[in-house]
Amino acid sequence: MSDTAVTSTDAAAAGAAAPAVAWEPQIIVFACNYCAYAAADLAGSQRRQYPPNVRIIHAPCTGKIEMEHILDAFLKGIDGVLVAGCLEGGCHFQEGNLRARKRTDRIREMLEEIGVGAERLKMVNLSAAEAPTFVARVTEIVETVKALGPSPLRDSRVPESEGQE
Ligand code: FES
Repeated sequence: MSDTAVTSTDAAAAGAAAPAVAWEPQIIVFACNYCAYAAADLAGSQRRQYPPNVRIIHAPCTGKIEMEHILDAFLKGIDGVLVAGCLEGGCHFQEGNLRARKRTDRIREMLEEIGVGAERLKMVNLSAAEAPTFVARVTEIVETVKALGPSPLRDSRVPESEGQE
């Protein structure tokens, strides 16, 4: 028998001893460089706590986040997405955050139509000084998605290796 073979004793022991792994939502935050990312950074330096199941993706501006970036996150099994940008009127690329708001609203409608749920996608506008707002909105989406449960798209995702030869 090889060293790596799993014996029935191992499996029984694992089944008996291992507690069921609780599902935790996986959340992506697309954060614009000038305000949201700075607010996240400030939250970190102020040692403010927020749920660890959040991955922050640094974007130059929310206007640079295309619909396919958000849809792709959901198709890869992400349970929720927060788009975080500058205050309205404060975007460093003029109207990037206004475009992002329109895209986000459109995708929310699509998510609702296909039964995934609009609440899994939110957008927040904040200034670089609003670390508490950043933490509050991140915590809020994690709690919302926890209440909704795993994304229905999780089970339909295609493994990344599939189709690559
Ligand atoms: Fe922050 Fe455009 S630079 S949303």
